[in-house]
Amino acid sequence: TRTYQLAVIGGDGIGPDVTRAALDGVQAAAEHFGFAVETTGFDLGADAYLRTGVALDEGTTERLRAHDAILLGAVGDPRVTPGVLERGLIVALRVAFRQSVNIRPVRLYPGVTSPVTAVTPDNCDLVIIRENTEGLYTGGGSTTHPGTANAVATQTSITTVQATTEAVEFAFRLAAARRKKLTLCHKTNILTHAGQLWQDVVDEVGARFPDVDRDYVHADAMCQHLPLDPGRFDVVVTDNLFGDIISDLGATVQGGLGLAASANHNPAGTAPSMFEPVHGSAPDIAGTGWANPAAAALSAALCLATLGERDAALALEASAASVLAELPALAGPRMGATTAELGRRIADRVADVDPAKIGDP
Ligand code: NAD
Ligand code: IPM
Ligand code: MN
Repeated sequence: TRTYQLAVIGGDGIGPDVTRAALDGVQAAAEHFGFAVETTGFDLGADAYLRTGVALDEGTTERLRAHDAILLGAVGDPRVTPGVLERGLIVALRVAFRQSVNIRPVRLYPGVTSPVTAVTPDNCDLVIIRENTEGLYTGGGSTTHPGTANAVATQTSITTVQATTEAVEFAFRLAAARRKKLTLCHKTNILTHAGQLWQDVVDEVGARFPDVDRDYVHADAMCQHLPLDPGRFDVVVTDNLFGDIISDLGATVQGGLGLAASANHNPAGTAPSMFEPVHGSAPDIAGTGWANPAAAALSAALCLATLGERDAALALEASAASVLAELPALAGPRMGATTAELGRRIADRVADVDPAKIGDP
């Protein structure tokens, strides 16, 4: 049987719970579609950091690299200075494994209520492609006179043609296979250096995709267009920080952060890709059992698709969608079922759903 080695980083807060629930769905899909998934847990995140003083070491990075894919829950903990785990673990892995393309689908599944009234399954099906390794995330910078009235902080943004091209090429290829429309989202009106580089890359790569229509939307205006007219978008390609922000907005449009999946994709295939919900560790609900595992399960479905298990991926997606369609509310006790119960429901249904009828309970 086909066997995949999956590294699992549950992480902090709700991360381990939603990851465990998602893995139930993965194992059910593997059983039904006749392949095997062997998982190796990695003890990374706040507890490990507080114990060892290290967020991620080289040996661990190399052990992770030896896997076919990585499933991550979330990291971030109130006991740890912001950035130590986010940059030291997640961004470090994205960079180390050259995951320059972050794929974030925004899709309203039938039966799910969007908090934005005009949004329906027919007009909400787009994908945000976020450059995943550069921009303001590179971490360069300094602070002079820190902690004084004269403090000045510099935060460097780096944009290279190489990583931008990887994201833009992926976005054009995806658009060509979808509704053939690509929107660049940036702030070319103020970030003139990086903005021009992005526009140049889109123009250059776009010339090779004459069938794909191109347009441009500023990141601030995107915050109105995305909720009010999501049907205008097919593939949105954007830089790291804008992509981070508009993908949480996209998550809201599709029903909430508990439903939004993502893939940190290495387009060259030279290292494993990493799959994680768009949401974080949600310390405000950690330990309550009321975290929605759908985002983690849908991220696991993206993982199965990348591993080449298309049917299993579609079944897991359809199963999660059909469970979502039954929930009276999308977060908290009003969901009527805990994280673990929803994981079991998604797993139980994987063998029975018809992916052609996504959303039907
Ligand atoms: P968050 O995404 O953790 O939570 C934002 C809001 O959404 C909270 O009210 C939370 O309860 C809710 N929410 C999130 N996931 C949910 C789910 N599955 N079901 C129901 N409700 C859900 O963002 P935050 O509060 O800004 O960040 C908390 C921590 O997570 C921080 O340390 C942050 O750095 C980190 N973070 C990590 C990741 C990641 O690991 N990929 C992503 C974002 C934030
Ligand atoms: C996300 C998160 C991360 C990001 C953090 C935790 C580094 O918010 O995956 O969206 O900003 O990319
Ligand atoms: Mn984010």
